[in-house]
Amino acid sequence: MALALENVSKHFGSLVAIKNLSLSFDVGSIYSIIGPNGAGKSTVVNMIAGSYSVTSGTIRLGNTALNKLPKHRIARLGVARTYQNLRLFDAMTVLENLEVCFFPQAWPGLLTGAKRMGKAERLAICRACLERFHLSDVAESLAGDLPYGRQKMLELARAFVTEAPIVLLDEPAAGLNHTETKDMAAMIASLKRADRAIILVEHDMDMVMSISDRIDVLNYGELLCSGTPELVRTNEKVQEAYLGTTEELDDIRKLAQSRRAQGGLRTNAGLVRH
Ligand SMILES: Nc1ncnc2c1ncn2[C@@H]1O[C@H](COP(=O)(O)OP(=O)(O)OP(=O)(O)O)[C@@H](O)[C@H]1O
Ligand SMILES: [Mg+2]
Repeated sequence: MALALENVSKHFGSLVAIKNLSLSFDVGSIYSIIGPNGAGKSTVVNMIAGSYSVTSGTIRLGNTALNKLPKHRIARLGVARTYQNLRLFDAMTVLENLEVCFFPQAWPGLLTGAKRMGKAERLAICRACLERFHLSDVAESLAGDLPYGRQKMLELARAFVTEAPIVLLDEPAAGLNHTETKDMAAMIASLKRADRAIILVEHDMDMVMSISDRIDVLNYGELLCSGTPELVRTNEKVQEAYLGTTEELDDIRKLAQSRRAQGGLRTNAGLVRH
């Protein structure tokens, strides 16, 4: 099943968050969308999942235009997602957090392309999923009581439990330490399947470079560059978008040197656009 954005734009009042963006994704691959803060990455995820309407253009899943559909219908069609900020049900158990994914109408905006099934079958699937994501030991714990790293893993599990063909992951490694990030990368890589497209938004470049088949770089809502990790790593425009031009970098270095001489420099602010 293929997902395509055709000339999609998104305006928030006078702000153009996404401008004429065309991208297509097919099952069988891991895609990463990267770009500086505010580039429009989450907006793309939110438009595909139906959390944001598109201002113009079309988003298609196979032959179906998703634009006008409510998000629970998009979920039913097979689009699952995680959120940039955790959205677990803290007062429910880990197991229950998976079970709710089978009721997208009851939890609009959540996940799933799930078929209808009985409770026993549903529970068996959820328990197998917990095993897969190394969460079986906390199945009956409240999600809110888990350490943050395991909450992120639970959020990931929720996006996969219904076997949706399109899975959108918005910053699964945000806030994780080095070891947790490596575990998360290995887990996501292991979830690649011929009948599934994984679309990853992520700032951790080690993760992105190591597991992506294609990387799409956004800058100010436009596609800056698209290609293999190797191509993107060496692309000059990408380096500029992240780090500034050579001249800007020189200026920053000079500033850093003079501040250091005064004993005052603490941060590398300016290297990341906010
Ligand atoms: N609901 C909204 N209302 C108004 N402006 C928004 C809204 N959502 C996003 N924006 C704006 O759209 C632009 C793109 O935001 P978006 O969240 O998609 O960026 P991002 O690439 O995900 O950034 P980050 O890496 O910080 O998560 C930003 O300028 C942001 O302020
Ligand atoms: Mg974002």
